Amino acid sequence: MDLDTVKERAGPRQFSPDDDMPREYREAATRMIQFHANSEIMGAYLERPFIREAPSLDRKLAYSAKTQDELGHGQLLYRAAESLGIKTREQMLDELANGDGKFLNCFHYPMESWVETPMIAFFVDGAAMRRQATLKRTSWEPYAHAMDKVVFEEGFHIKHGESILKELATGSKKEQEMVQDAFELWWPRIIQFFGPTDDDSTHHDFSAEVGLKQMTNDELRQSFLNQYLPKAEKYGLEIPDTPTIEQDEDGNYRVAEDELDWEEFFQIAKNEYDPGRGQIDSRKRAHDAVEWVRDTLDEYETTSGHAPQAAD
Ligand SMILES: [Fe+2]
Ligand SMILES: [Fe+2]
Repeated sequence: MDLDTVKERAGPRQFSPDDDMPREYREAATRMIQFHANSEIMGAYLERPFIREAPSLDRKLAYSAKTQDELGHGQLLYRAAESLGIKTREQMLDELANGDGKFLNCFHYPMESWVETPMIAFFVDGAAMRRQATLKRTSWEPYAHAMDKVVFEEGFHIKHGESILKELATGSKKEQEMVQDAFELWWPRIIQFFGPTDDDSTHHDFSAEVGLKQMTNDELRQSFLNQYLPKAEKYGLEIPDTPTIEQDEDGNYRVAEDELDWEEFFQIAKNEYDPGRGQIDSRKRAHDAVEWVRDTLDEYETTSGHAPQAAD
């Protein structure tokens, strides 16, 4: 299929591995899905220590289920990316471990305390949900199909994050102050979740033309702010003064984007942000630690002539 035909036919779940897609489409879709898959895995890595840190058995169970979901989302998405025929799942996991794989800015920052957890589990997952809900209508069918499961599970994640936020926000004075501090630290990063304003986003136009992306960064950010800013206020959080956020005459929240640190954002996007290297190194250690498992499976496959089967 040539590119003009792709653009003409572009629509929700329009293309699948049965279609002969041009390389430009397959590369753009791979870049987008690989980024998404990497972000799921790196989010899980950031949250994993909090299974242990969680203050009660119920919270531990919920945190453990959420972390497993995120790893599952990552694996599902690597399969969806693999179906484009550009990279294998193994290649993408290697790239993530060696620092070539790109992922969401929020997951480059260290998370040190339990009071920070709703910043990811409520606000970042809430932001992710805005984007993922639109991706159920993406043109690459395996990606849209993966989103059915991902979006369903994200609904639980957000409820879980909201429940932690509510508990802290209605807790002791000390807890309320700590959660406000965490919010002030994470708020600019959360707003940057959707990336730069549309004029500065290099990949949007093509992805939109071929039906991979459904909404622009600005539209998504707007929709997130309209929904989540009132929620933050409902839990007594004070919105930081920077960046300036104002409501326009239609009631939409508008953010003064030039007050955000885009230099840091782009440094992160290139995996060159220093504290963020810790996240990548920890992923590399985890990847290396199970190298013997991959080697054993490869060896079995080569000597036996067939792939390992799941036990009955
Ligand atoms: Fe997820
Ligand atoms: Fe999630």
